[in-house]
Amino acid sequence: MTYTNDVFSRIAGYSARELKGQPHNIIRHPQMPRSVFALLWQTIQAGGEIFAYVINRCKNGDHYWVIAHVSASRDRSGEIIGYHSARRVPERSIVDEKIIPLYDLLLSEKNKYPNRKPHIFHNTEQTFQNMEYCYRDIVHNY
Ligand SMILES: Cc1cc2nc3c(=O)[nH]c(=O)nc-3n(C[C@H](O)[C@H](O)[C@H](O)COP(=O)(O)O)c2cc1C
Repeated sequence: MTYTNDVFSRIAGYSARELKGQPHNIIRHPQMPRSVFALLWQTIQAGGEIFAYVINRCKNGDHYWVIAHVSASRDRSGEIIGYHSARRVPERSIVDEKIIPLYDLLLSEKNKYPNRKPHIFHNTEQTFQNMEYCYRDIVHNY
């Protein structure tokens, strides 16, 4: 992380100094499926943008949900020089009714095949498709 604002610091429970220079997975929560981050990185590295529902872990062990709009930062010539994320408070009912069940499904798919890479790959491909479809549906109003 190269820049964090006060609201993020306060909610995550880390000072700006503690966050600066750290990888973003310092606040990773185990309930986040790996495939969501794979989709996120795949999208933004290709120059696209994504709205992602993310559960994060605070320093004190609490958690919080955000809807993050993640996209590339570019220099004047259009080269990607980094990425940024603007977060908003998601609607609780969407998190409870759609996102948590979807993420639980993604996590359980992964756990079904802990050591079998081809299956993981297959499932990840499939879950990407399911997710992108769900996501488009869910983020329609944002
Ligand atoms: C701009 C930006 C914002 C991100 N925000 C978060 C975040 O809030 N929480 C999180 O766990 N990962 C976030 N990530 C993804 C992390 O970089 C990382 O891929 C993820 O935490 C998974 O970590 P792992 O691969 O070590 O399991 C963000 C990435 C970018 C580029």
